[in-house]
Amino acid sequence: MSVAPDTTVKVAKGLEGIVAAATQLSDVQGTEGILTYRGYDINELAARSTFEETVDLLWYGVLPTRALLEKLNRKFVASRCLPEEVLGAMKLFPKKSTPMDVLRTVVSQLGLHDVDELDNSVSANVRKSIRLTAQMPTIVAAWHNIHQGREPITPRNDLSHAANFLYMLDGKEPTAQAARILDIALILHLDHGLNASTFVARSIASTESDMYSAISGALGALKGPLHGGANEAVMKMLIQLGDISQVEPFVHDALANHRKISGFGHRIYKTNDPRALQLRRIAGELAEHTGNRKWYDMSEKMREVVWNERQLYVNVDFYSASVYYTLGIPIELFTPIFAISRVAGWTAHVMEQLLDNRIMRPDSEYVGPKNQKYVPLDQRK
Ligand SMILES: CC(C)(COP(=O)(O)OP(=O)(O)OC[C@H]1O[C@@H](n2cnc3c(N)ncnc32)[C@H](O)[C@@H]1OP(=O)(O)O)[C@@H](O)C(=O)NCCC(=O)NCCS
Repeated sequence: MSVAPDTTVKVAKGLEGIVAAATQLSDVQGTEGILTYRGYDINELAARSTFEETVDLLWYGVLPTRALLEKLNRKFVASRCLPEEVLGAMKLFPKKSTPMDVLRTVVSQLGLHDVDELDNSVSANVRKSIRLTAQMPTIVAAWHNIHQGREPITPRNDLSHAANFLYMLDGKEPTAQAARILDIALILHLDHGLNASTFVARSIASTESDMYSAISGALGALKGPLHGGANEAVMKMLIQLGDISQVEPFVHDALANHRKISGFGHRIYKTNDPRALQLRRIAGELAEHTGNRKWYDMSEKMREVVWNERQLYVNVDFYSASVYYTLGIPIELFTPIFAISRVAGWTAHVMEQLLDNRIMRPDSEYVGPKNQKYVPLDQRK
């Protein structure tokens, strides 16, 4: 189907510049390159906080006391396991299923097992947010094992959110460095204004649907290569290029042929994305520490060439790719890792939307043919 472009109609294509929600959760200052959660700079949170503490801040609006943080931690840990019926169903999924599709399906299925599913009260939505945030890493790790014909690994209750996820992948306790790198990555991905998947979550919530529907929808939006799927696309691109010498010709060719290069560009940032700066630093340190410089050096080269040719900044997905890969995480888990973090942001937005709700219902301009006359079926040519 094609829609003839009508130059008289002014459409906010991609909803650029449209303010569709007021939020107290995160502030993306695109011209300054600043991101804050509840007024706290992302750089300070990445340096000093943990994922669990930052989620507490995002959900409840203030940095928690030690007692409150321990309370939330206990709830997270207690909610990590998946119902047996859900694990049983996962074992029947086609083995070709991608982790993002499994995540979307299992989140939807978890709604069927949750007594709070259709209760949109604040307390029920907080309980669901805790359960979903706690269970998402378990789903991703369980599928990682099931699709390779192994039994899922039971979550541990003595490890942090990040460390437990890495542990559940292969049953080995991660190094403190690996766990902390993932912890920082989770902090950096937690929330980001009204990005595409968060908009989807808020739109679904605005119909007074339920949390599980909102998060399933958001997962569907996140997996796209223009959004969270970009981190996997970046790594595949680097692997396909194979060598630093291939970077420059690839960039020339892509830009000359108006092809997008994954990991570059952003709707809001007109300067450095602060998350990308953090991840670039971590990628550099990791390359130094492991002695495996290949992916970092290729990334640096690509950043330089793209900048010289097109002045595009890297986004959050560019360096996260080589960071995760160097940590030994399989590529198909990169976007699910984004989701493992962002789910806490989505749930916060769903709850915020419901506090002052009006159904999301933008307008469209009809540009098709008018005054058509119905022709009976047997008279049509
Ligand atoms: C993020 C993204 C979807 C933002 O899209 P957007 O705000 O609609 O921006 P546009 O696609 O209109 O881009 C504006 C211009 O920059 C160019 N551009 C943007 N990102 C580019 C990229 N990654 N590679 C090459 N050119 C790019 C566009 O071609 C366009 O050029 P034009 O004005 O000559 O037509 C887009 O930058 C992109 O597709 N990036 C690659 C995917 C990615 O990394 N996504 C993760 C985002 S965190």
